[in-house]
Amino acid sequence: MSYPYQINSIEEYKEAYKKSIEQPDAFWASIAEHFTWKKKWDKVVEWNFKEPKVEWFKGAKLNITENCIDRHLDTLGDKPALIWEPNNPEERVRVVTYNRLHKRVCQVAQMLKNNGVKKGDRVCIYMGMVPELVYAILGCARIGAIHSVIFGGFSAQSIADRVTDAHAEFIITCDGAYRGEKVIPLKSVIDDALINNTTVKRIIVFTRTRTPVSMLKGRDVWWEDEMEHAEQQVEINGKINFEPAIMDAEDPLFILYTSGSTGKPKGVVHTIAGYMIFVTYSFVNVFNYQQGQIHFCTADIGWVTGHSYIAYGPLCAGATSVMFEGIPTFPDAGRFWDIVDKHQVNILYTAPTAIRSLMGFGTQPLEGKNLSSLKVLGSVGEPINEEAWHWYDEHIGKKRCPIVDTWWQTETAGILISNLAGITPSKPSWATLPLPGVQPILVDENGNEVLPNGNETIAGNLCIKAPWPGIIRTTYGDHERCRTNYFATYDNLYFSGDGALKDENGNYRITGRVDDVLNISGHRIGTAEVENAINMHAGVVESAVVGYPHNIKGQGIYAYVILGQKHSDEELTKKDILQTVTRIIGAIAKPDKIQFVTGLPKTRSGKIMRRILRKIAEGETENLGDTTALLDPNIVNEIKEGRV
Ligand code: WTA
Repeated sequence: MSYPYQINSIEEYKEAYKKSIEQPDAFWASIAEHFTWKKKWDKVVEWNFKEPKVEWFKGAKLNITENCIDRHLDTLGDKPALIWEPNNPEERVRVVTYNRLHKRVCQVAQMLKNNGVKKGDRVCIYMGMVPELVYAILGCARIGAIHSVIFGGFSAQSIADRVTDAHAEFIITCDGAYRGEKVIPLKSVIDDALINNTTVKRIIVFTRTRTPVSMLKGRDVWWEDEMEHAEQQVEINGKINFEPAIMDAEDPLFILYTSGSTGKPKGVVHTIAGYMIFVTYSFVNVFNYQQGQIHFCTADIGWVTGHSYIAYGPLCAGATSVMFEGIPTFPDAGRFWDIVDKHQVNILYTAPTAIRSLMGFGTQPLEGKNLSSLKVLGSVGEPINEEAWHWYDEHIGKKRCPIVDTWWQTETAGILISNLAGITPSKPSWATLPLPGVQPILVDENGNEVLPNGNETIAGNLCIKAPWPGIIRTTYGDHERCRTNYFATYDNLYFSGDGALKDENGNYRITGRVDDVLNISGHRIGTAEVENAINMHAGVVESAVVGYPHNIKGQGIYAYVILGQKHSDEELTKKDILQTVTRIIGAIAKPDKIQFVTGLPKTRSGKIMRRILRKIAEGETENLGDTTALLDPNIVNEIKEGRV
C-alpha cells in the first residue's frame, strides 16, 4: 500500500516539484493534512534568511510520538516497529511491535517525569544501539524534553563539552556497549566526563553488557528499577497510556552536535513539526517505501541518519525498521547480508565507506546469502565513487535494485537531493535531482549564480534558495553562530559547505566539502577540532591538519606537526599524539598520517596556506601553485621531502 503523498511516476515528481515551488504553502499543507495534530497551523511557513528566522506550521499543536506510535496502534499494533539485531548473532533478536513500543515509550516518559525531567529540559543520551535508545528519544519527545544523542565513539572530553553547551541536567546511558569484539564502558566514560560537572542531577543507566560501573548515590539510578516502577503508573484499568505533552510546532525536538570549520562542535536544533513532515515525506518518497516493507538503515542513532531514517521517518510512516547493534565485519564480513537474508530486508541504506570496506572482502561473504528480498539500495554520508556504486549495483542489488544516492546534512534534517527509487533515473556517483520543496543553486565565490553556457556542466558552491520544513532553526544557545555559519556567506542563501556540479539535465553531483571540514568514513570532523586536540599534547607547538583521498574511508587525516624540541623517539611521540586526540575527541578523529615538520607554509600575515599542504598530502608535489606569497618558501621543499 502506498501513501497519499507518494510520488509514483516521473510526471508526478515533476508536478509535485512545480507545485512545491509555485505554491509551497498549499503543497506542504496537503502533506501535513495526513498527520495527527492537536490543533492545525495558522500559517504554513514564514521566513527570512537574514536573521535567520524560519517557522513552519506556526500555531499548530502536536506531539510527534502520537504520529510515530499512537496513530498506528489500531491498524499496526501487532506489526513490528523495530527489529533489533544484536551485535552477537547468537543472541536473541528482539521484535518490538507498535503496541510494545507504545508501552515502552509511555514507561520511559513516566520514568523521566519521576526523575524530575520537565518539558524543555535537555537530556543527553549516550547509549549503544539498543532498542532502549529509541524508547529514550521517544520518551523525551513524549514529555516534551529535548534530546541530544551523543555518538558512542566520542570521548569523555567531547561529552563534557556537549553536556555543558546544552546545559543538560539529565543523562541516559548504558553500563557498556558491544562493538564487534569490543565492549565500550559507556558509564565509566560518562563518569570521566562529569568529573568537574556540578549541573547533572540524574543519570539513568541501562544494563547491556554487565560491565562493572560505579553508581553515585543520589545521582545515578538503574533503568530497570525505574522502568519497573513506571510500569505500574502507566497502566490504568488494563489500559496503557502516558498523556503526550502538547507541543508547539516550533518547539525544539532535539539538539545534535556536528562539526564545522571552527574548533567547537555546534548544537544543531531541529523543531518538531517541520522535522516530522520532512523526514516522513522524504523517507516515503526517496525509498519509495510501501507499507509492510522492511527497511534497514545501518547508521548509528548517534548521527542524524539514524535519527531520521531509523527512528522518526520510518516510525512516522508506520514502517518496520531494522536496528543493528554491531559492525559490518563482525563476526565476519557477511554480517549485513545475513541480516538481509534473515529478515527479508527490502530496503538497505548504508554508507560508501561500508560498501568499500566490504568490497575488499570480495564476493565470498555473499555466498549462500539470499538477497532476493532487496528492492532498493541507498547510499549516504559522502560521495560514492563509481567503483563502489557498480559493486553495490552488481553484487548486492543484482542489477535489479535502484540505488538512491542521497545528499543531505545534519542541518537539513532529511534528504534534499536524491533520485527517487524506481521513479526518477539514477546516474552513478550523482545525487541527481532535488526533492520537491528544495531549490538548489550553485554560486561562485562572490555569491553570483553560476549559469551554464549552452549544455555545459557547471560547478559551484551548493546553496539552497528557500526553506524546506527540515531546515536548521538555530545552533543551541548561540543563534549568531547559526547565522554566520550558514546564512552569512551568501546573501539570502543557505550555504551547505559543499561543492557540486550540475549537468545539462539538472542533475547534481556533490564533489565534497569546500570548507575546512573533513569527511572521514562519512563522519564529519573539523580540521580545527583535530588541530586543537593535537595541540593539547605537551610536546606540540603547532599543527595543521588536512584531508587526503583514502581508499576505504573516503578521506584520511594528514597532520603536519611542529614539536617543541626534537624528540628522540618519533614513533612514540606519534603514538602519544594519537592517544591525545582519542582522549580529546574520540578514536574517529585520529590522524592516519603524522609528519613532523620544522615550520608550516605561511603567508606574511601568518595564515597557513592549506592548499599547499593539501596538495602535498595528496601526493602532488610538482604543481603547488603560486608560492611567492610565502614567508619562507624553503619550508615547502622540506615538507615535500619529508612526506609520509
Ligand atoms: C556529505 C549526513 C556526497 C556532504 C547525512 C555533507 C554527501 C556532509 C552525501 C553531511 C552524498 C552527505 N554525496 N556527499 N550523497 N551525503 N554527504 O551532517 O559533504 O553527517 O555536507 O550528514 O556529508 O554530513 P552529516
